Amino acid sequence: MKDELNNLKNNALGQIIEAHDVSSLEDLRISYLGRNGKINELTKEFKNLEITERKEVGILLNDVKKTIEEAILNKLKELKVLTNKEWFDYTIPGKKIELGHIHPISYAIFDISNIFEHIGFSRVSYPEVEWDWYAFGALNFPRSHPARDDWETFFVDAKPHPKYGEMLLTPHTSSGQIREMERVKTPPIRMINIAKCYRRQSDVSHYPMFHQFEGLVVDEGINITHLKGTLDYFARSFYGPDIKTRIRPYHFQFTEPSFEVDFSCTICKGVGCKLCKEGWLEMGGAGMVHPNVMKACNIDPKKYSGFAFGWGVERVLMMKPGLNIPDLRQLYSTDIRYLKQF
Ligand code: DAH
Repeated sequence: MKDELNNLKNNALGQIIEAHDVSSLEDLRISYLGRNGKINELTKEFKNLEITERKEVGILLNDVKKTIEEAILNKLKELKVLTNKEWFDYTIPGKKIELGHIHPISYAIFDISNIFEHIGFSRVSYPEVEWDWYAFGALNFPRSHPARDDWETFFVDAKPHPKYGEMLLTPHTSSGQIREMERVKTPPIRMINIAKCYRRQSDVSHYPMFHQFEGLVVDEGINITHLKGTLDYFARSFYGPDIKTRIRPYHFQFTEPSFEVDFSCTICKGVGCKLCKEGWLEMGGAGMVHPNVMKACNIDPKKYSGFAFGWGVERVLMMKPGLNIPDLRQLYSTDIRYLKQF
């Protein structure tokens, strides 16, 4: 009987090792340990044994039973782990981590700052939450100017500054002119300020948050030809060598004389098309720094003169041929399918 038990144990262990799934393991369990299983069969023969043999065989019998039980349990654990692992198919290509790319507006900002840095402008950065003085007061805006209206500018519900007035979200980058003149104190100044601006507006070509870039050059002997040369240089660098610029008289509070700047149409190259009608596209404002603005910054307008310009980043980007952005608000949507195109 001892031999039979040992054989039975060895067979069982061999079959358990070979078992490939839970159900064949269960079959083995029934055939060895079940009520009518092989162990019980042998137990029945136990009573035929000599009394002297019974003790030894009894111990062996229990031992074989325990060994088979344990082997089945271990194999079961192993199979369960394996079953989980079956879902992990090493041959399936991994999921790609989407890295995204730089937003078209950020590209435009890199481009613009690069272009101006080449001719000696320094990029600066000033607060988006400003005081009235920097956004309007020092820029020669009269108290009653409509830009100070609630419907134009976002005012922050905070205690006004005793000297600088109300707190607001800066509506244009021109506030950077004042900050820069205040910081540098003595010209020369050659700054390019590219920043977020805020106004109460929203349509296909306006968004409450947008970006402007503001140039300011102050030194002795600065005149309109320097401004015109800078505009030409920017137009050619940003859009291509055949783009021309022109300036038209206009009015801004903080420049005198003031101009609106047009570029020859980037699409039809100035011939006239659906976008430009007569060959020119309006790009933004510019002018010679108003003496009052210099005085507000403690710079002597008799000694120094300067020019400034301020344009929308979104606008110059939208005028790039081939981009075709019919609604500027799409640029700020979080729709990845749209942004992916750029
Ligand atoms: N700040 C003006 C605006 O937001 C744009 C502008 C016009 C800026 C003339 C200038 C300038 O620096 O000289 O509409």
